[in-house]
Amino acid sequence: MSATVIDGKMLSVSYKEKMKEQIVELEAKYGRKPCLAVIIVGEDPASQSYVRGKIKAAAFVGMDSRLIELPATISEEELLRHIADLNADGGVDGILVQLPLPRHINSNEVIEAITPMKDVDGFHPMNVANLWLGLDSMVPCTPKGIMKIIETSGINPDGKVAVIVGRSNIVGKPVAKLLLDANATVMIAHTHTEDLKAITLQADILVVAAGSLGLIKGDMVKPGAVVIDVGIGRNSEGKLSGDVDFEGAARVASYITPVPGGVGPMTITMLMENTIECFINRMHSL
Ligand code: GUN
Repeated sequence: MSATVIDGKMLSVSYKEKMKEQIVELEAKYGRKPCLAVIIVGEDPASQSYVRGKIKAAAFVGMDSRLIELPATISEEELLRHIADLNADGGVDGILVQLPLPRHINSNEVIEAITPMKDVDGFHPMNVANLWLGLDSMVPCTPKGIMKIIETSGINPDGKVAVIVGRSNIVGKPVAKLLLDANATVMIAHTHTEDLKAITLQADILVVAAGSLGLIKGDMVKPGAVVIDVGIGRNSEGKLSGDVDFEGAARVASYITPVPGGVGPMTITMLMENTIECFINRMHSL
């Protein structure tokens, strides 16, 4: 068997094309476009590249954006002042602070400082609580993109076994909740899982967000599974690759996402969708 490779890039373009039209309509209706503010602290090359991608996507869909570049030496107090300004700014609909932050800054305090109404990442405790309670909330971008990818593969998670490798607040935990909402039977494996292979082999849907390049080999994948690779890094040859051994897994899976060009573009596209959602919510609450 050889898996169908899900083209996350193409899928994201088709979503963004629809958003382009939606933004034209929103501007006609409300007199301005949605606006996303992105804060980056320091000069980590990976973070800079992600942020560039976000600003580029905003331009592509025709929304406004603001990029706030701050030095790695900035104090937490000063960063919180920037956030307070953006919270109060009527022309800003979404605020994203690129993570990770320098060690002297408490990320939790920064996340909590963003008003939940503009929290396009869905990381604020209020949004996290609402998500887990099944109430209206901003849904984090990567998990939201993963659900769209699974939908695209034609797999209905209802009744299926979903295994997530990784338990981060950004991916592992929220995607577990979304898969649970879609009626999957969900397991979360992590660094303390004793027999990882025994768990991953049960997965009809395998989401890997472990931050460990090449962790999942082909013999750890159940034949016919849908494999979603959230990892990204450079292997020993300097080539971008994921947490899944792509060649090995593609031999047994039914669907698989590549790295790059799988989950990444969909994450950015969902950020655009969340910004539009914040804009609409704010327009309705004014
Ligand atoms: N760093 C890695 N992924 C993300 C994300 O989804 N949002 C933010 N703000 N930072 C990140």
